[in-house]
Amino acid sequence: MPRKGLSLAPRLRYLAGRARRIDVGSVLERAKEVSQTHGKWTPAVVVDMLWSAGFRQVGFQDYVDYDFAILSKAERATYMTHPVSNELSQKYDHPDYRHIFQDKVEFDRVFSDHLEREWMVVDAGNADAVREFTQRQGTIVTKEPVGQAGTGVHRYRAAEIEDWDAFHRGLLERGELLIEEVIRQHPDIAAVCPGTVNTTRVTAFFDGQKTHILAMAQKFGRGAVSDQMTFGGFYTMLDDAGHAVGPGYDSHGHVHESHPDTGFRIADFQLPMVDEVKAFVDRVARVVPQVQYVGWDIVVTPDGPVLVEGNWGAGVYENKPSVTGIRTGHKPRYREAIGF
Ligand SMILES: Nc1ncnc2c1ncn2[C@@H]1O[C@H](COP(=O)(O)OP(=O)(O)O)[C@@H](O)[C@H]1O
Ligand SMILES: [Mg+2]
Repeated sequence: MPRKGLSLAPRLRYLAGRARRIDVGSVLERAKEVSQTHGKWTPAVVVDMLWSAGFRQVGFQDYVDYDFAILSKAERATYMTHPVSNELSQKYDHPDYRHIFQDKVEFDRVFSDHLEREWMVVDAGNADAVREFTQRQGTIVTKEPVGQAGTGVHRYRAAEIEDWDAFHRGLLERGELLIEEVIRQHPDIAAVCPGTVNTTRVTAFFDGQKTHILAMAQKFGRGAVSDQMTFGGFYTMLDDAGHAVGPGYDSHGHVHESHPDTGFRIADFQLPMVDEVKAFVDRVARVVPQVQYVGWDIVVTPDGPVLVEGNWGAGVYENKPSVTGIRTGHKPRYREAIGF
């Protein structure tokens, strides 16, 4: 441990303060996982994880996901992490406007020009409208508007619904108040996983004049309604030209050279219409300029990009060194664009 700067005692006190708020079991679990993967001594990993969390703003899951155990100090410093991302969200996403992003109904209202699909809100008196919408669409996606952290998205087929009043009542009871038309994705994306609409996550910062693209990742589902990890999804980072930089991975230790359901080689993926995607992000970033730091979920369709949602708490998508061989992250881009 370096001895310059703060003396050891205050540092340890600070660390202990943080330690009181952490789930020791989850740290140990993760440390064991790291030591197995990288052949490191578990106690040393625990100490390094705690030290990195306390003094370098590295979340425990960041440490695992981005293989910090095998990175040098300089390499680690290039990685964006969740605690730093959270600070940016707090600083650059104005509290008075976050609700637009937090509530999916509110979001669809404000961003309706960029959705390119039909949507409606379920209320106590509109069973007939819900039936009409669903039968006309054939399949629908429903969403619980607030705070479901990746689990509040569902899919229904009209052909499987027998009792329409019960269906409508069920949506109300379960809080699935937003109904959307199913997005039709570009054939190049459907080629990897046709059963899920696979989104591109573009993390961007709008500085009041210019929109900076900080990182792009492509998520892939496993045939379920959502491409989120809670539904078995995974991702790969994309380069500036929208090409995958390597195989896919998730936060549960899975690595996918190829998509398990189609065999499509993830490293061969090229996002279609990349220039259109960047121009699109620039347009949507200006709709609510008070929320400057956003993780945009976008789908490229045959007619161009459409918006799924914007996340004001953007989260982090980064390179995984053990999978891609790339040992640097995107933090320098964040620093340059945002100036921290
Ligand atoms: N209208 C839609 N049509 C098809 N798939 C959708 C639609 N909306 C969302 N999805 C799928 O569900 C995923 C999660 O939706 P999203 O609105 O981003 O909610 P959250 O990320 O909060 O769970 C998307 O990434 C996409 O895979
Ligand atoms: Mg999303």
